[in-house]
Amino acid sequence: MAEPLTPEQQLERMRRDWDERARANARYFVNTAREDWTDEEFFASGERTVDTYIRNDMINICQGRDPRRMKVLEIGCGAGRVTRALARLFGEVYAVDISAEMVRLARQACADLGNVHIEQNNGRDLACLGPIQVDFAFSTIVFQHIPNKEIIESYIREVHRLLRPRGLFKFQVQGAELVEEGGYDTWLGVPISEEEAIEMALRNGFEPRYRHGAGTQDFWLWYFKRSRARQLTIYYARRSRRKLAARWRGLRARFASGRETASAAPGDSRTG
Ligand SMILES: C[S@@+](CC[C@H](N)C(=O)[O-])C[C@H]1O[C@@H](n2cnc3c(N)ncnc32)[C@H](O)[C@@H]1O
Repeated sequence: MAEPLTPEQQLERMRRDWDERARANARYFVNTAREDWTDEEFFASGERTVDTYIRNDMINICQGRDPRRMKVLEIGCGAGRVTRALARLFGEVYAVDISAEMVRLARQACADLGNVHIEQNNGRDLACLGPIQVDFAFSTIVFQHIPNKEIIESYIREVHRLLRPRGLFKFQVQGAELVEEGGYDTWLGVPISEEEAIEMALRNGFEPRYRHGAGTQDFWLWYFKRSRARQLTIYYARRSRRKLAARWRGLRARFASGRETASAAPGDSRTG
């Protein structure tokens, strides 16, 4: 049996495969609804994505802020389909993609917009963006292609690092088991169960407030970054739980060794 790939090898494959797809027919691999997208239709489909998942959900996304004053992050921008629509709505858009070819196309698509920053990243973190803070983070049809849960979780950690407290990270993952365990590749990514989605949020400082489409390919998650006060409360609650548990273990150990000594003593005297 072939050795499983390391995360580094998987990232290398993602980069290579998405560059190839971008060269072959970028717009088709970004949105397989058509093979021959015109500019107009392709970017209109991005507007529809933003209408459905963002304009319909402004209360959670903006939380009373003016969108024109908000900075947003897009993970996996592809050929700029959604990026353009985001830039028409929000003040500043930061977008990353693992594929240099996709980044080239996205930059071309957004060349007339002054509020878009697009970078090629390493496929698992957001270090290439520098020390920015964003008000909202978004990703669609990207994590469903990632074959490794650790890489998905690394993005969740990274978004937590760059997102303002209480900000929303809204993203879509693969919720359906489409292939047998381990058969994932750079097209059919690893599925995430509802339980895993909740655990990943809690482990990384988010409140997993809403979920939609668990068990399907369109599994959407709303992760709200906990406020600093809430993070501190949780930190101290966990610390005191750990301390209590340690004290309890100590007491039990002392009690058990006391019982052993007590039960050993009469025997000793009898044999002695
Ligand atoms: C199907 S396209 C979707 C593009 C865009 N989100 C859209 O909806 O138009 C998937 C994109 O995710 C990018 N991608 C795949 N794995 C990635 C990773 N680990 N990190 C960043 N981008 C990734 C690909 O290069 C590709 O551009």
